[in-house]
Amino acid sequence: MNYSLSHNDSKSTSQEFLNDVVSGLSGPRKKLKCKYFYDERGSALFDQICDLDEYYLTRTEQWIMEHYIDEMAQQIGSGVALVEFGSGSSVKTRTLIEALDTLAAYIPVDISEDHLLKTAESLRVRYPNVEILPLVADFTVEFQLPRPSHPTSRVAVYFPGSTIGNFPPSEASRMLSLIARLQGVNGSLLIGIDLQKDPSIIEAAYDDAENVTAEFNLNLLHRINKELGGDFEVSQFRHHVKYDPENGRVEMYLTSLCDQTVNIQGRTFLFAAGEGVLTEYSHKYTIDGFTTMAGAAGFGLRKFWTDPDRQFAVLHLVNDQD
Ligand code: AVJ
Repeated sequence: MNYSLSHNDSKSTSQEFLNDVVSGLSGPRKKLKCKYFYDERGSALFDQICDLDEYYLTRTEQWIMEHYIDEMAQQIGSGVALVEFGSGSSVKTRTLIEALDTLAAYIPVDISEDHLLKTAESLRVRYPNVEILPLVADFTVEFQLPRPSHPTSRVAVYFPGSTIGNFPPSEASRMLSLIARLQGVNGSLLIGIDLQKDPSIIEAAYDDAENVTAEFNLNLLHRINKELGGDFEVSQFRHHVKYDPENGRVEMYLTSLCDQTVNIQGRTFLFAAGEGVLTEYSHKYTIDGFTTMAGAAGFGLRKFWTDPDRQFAVLHLVNDQD
């Protein structure tokens, strides 16, 4: 049994965080990367979001997984190396691991080392016969997979949670190509995507009555203050959500409530009253639209599953390019 933890990140993460924040706040349209939401408090707030009445995504995807898990396992086949992108909630993963026959290895990939180690440890206890090979990596950039000690039939990537929706189409396409290269021929991709629907349902999911999502969004400013020595006056910013039907995406902003300046390590940034900082895109797809995008990366749709209200979908795609 391999108990190692692989690292695949290039730069020191806090330097990268600073660079990203400085460049994101320097342009004419300020933005911050959503991957920085997930410090300890951010991850805890996200778990709370998943339990909100308004946030239909998590429970709907879980419903689909539970209802169709046998068909999914049949599609994926036996003896695979299962790679999970952003192995946040191990609940969905357990459903899949248990359904797969003779899994050769399970490779959870995440940027958060703490989270990953905890997940890996509990999975090792639960599934002593499965080789667990956690990998600390930013899966938006090319990385190498650890090599399982047993031969594997194919590389299956499980990418749940509609996380791909955080990326604009150009970057999502690039990630799908990255997945295809990582897998090689006959790669299997099981991916969860949120579907286009009545905008009021979508907006409520990102602007809940208890303001948990607002806290989650504002936590990014707390994190910059804490980790980068910024002096954001967090109470002078407001959570703002807008659905853009043209691009099929919800946009989250932190809007400045007044004219103000913020200092971060000797640099000063000006915020005008009403100015928004874009913090997240969450794209909503149609099955056809997503299939077309994945097709450009060499993937063909084999099967998909949805809930009765067609809110969310899980797609199985196979990379059949050589
Ligand atoms: C984790 C990317 C799926 O876009 O719905 C939840 C993140 N942001 N509420 C999403 C999120 C605000 C979430 N994903």
